[in-house]
Amino acid sequence: MTNEHDRAAEHRERFGDLVFDADDLLLLEPFQIRYLEGRVPLADFGELLRAHRHVGRYLRRACPAVAPWLQQTLDAEPPGASLEECEQRVLWEIADLIVYNKAPHAYDALPHHRWDFEAVTSVAALAGTVALDVGAGTGQTAVELSRRARTVFAIEPVGRLRQFVRDRAQRRKRGNLYVIDGMAHAIPLPSQFADVIVCVRSLRNRGNAVGVGGWRLDDEVAELERVVRPGGTIVICSGWLHDEAADRPEHQTLTSPRWGYRHDAYAGYVGQLSRYHKQC
Ligand SMILES: C[S@@+](CC[C@H](N)C(=O)[O-])C[C@H]1O[C@@H](n2cnc3c(N)ncnc32)[C@H](O)[C@@H]1O
Repeated sequence: MTNEHDRAAEHRERFGDLVFDADDLLLLEPFQIRYLEGRVPLADFGELLRAHRHVGRYLRRACPAVAPWLQQTLDAEPPGASLEECEQRVLWEIADLIVYNKAPHAYDALPHHRWDFEAVTSVAALAGTVALDVGAGTGQTAVELSRRARTVFAIEPVGRLRQFVRDRAQRRKRGNLYVIDGMAHAIPLPSQFADVIVCVRSLRNRGNAVGVGGWRLDDEVAELERVVRPGGTIVICSGWLHDEAADRPEHQTLTSPRWGYRHDAYAGYVGQLSRYHKQC
């Protein structure tokens, strides 16, 4: 599996204070379960599922589409490592998915949240607007938007995160910030509803490059452009470096003639990151 070790190591570095066990898989929501294929090491996952049958039952019931793949993992040759090792390899590989449900405060405390909000205000006038934060996470961007826009909708598919954003909005007395369930390719709002749409680190390749796990950036961009009003602005702040954008499939899609997003840089925590924006 490509980058498997890098990703697990990165997650250990970020969330090393947390302890994960197989029951944490019961926290995953159906759309996250869909992302597992192509992310977790197959034989390790089979070992985990053989030892924790109830986890397999839950995953199958919550997301029936993964049933054939779960069977493949169960049929895989045992990896020859201890159960504990297999479990830990699986769980650290997908710690980024689990952490949203298990410990949103740990995600909220990551330093990458420190980025210059001018990335948004320099291309989108916010006063008096209806603004959306799509893939809102713990809501830091949504709160910033709510200080400037008239009304803000934070759209987030993970229930535990939606509650986190609601609590944050209440603590900060942001009465103009509403939190709703939805995904970038299926936003439960009418066409031409928003003046400004912002996505921070939330539009990207999900799952693997051949489409397993929900690679649907074209559908997501089409949906953003359905919901923004004519003349409105879409701003996509990515997590990848400006200088390393060219090889990324997301970059190629966004800057293609079909979508025509402008690519430039914004000041992120680790340096100049890629920003994409368009006036529709
Ligand atoms: C890396 S986090 C970024 C969160 C937040 N925007 C930030 O800057 O911290 C990605 C977020 O996108 C959400 N997400 C995952 N798949 C999504 C999808 N298909 N549509 C919308 N949001 C999605 C995740 O639940 C998570 O909250």
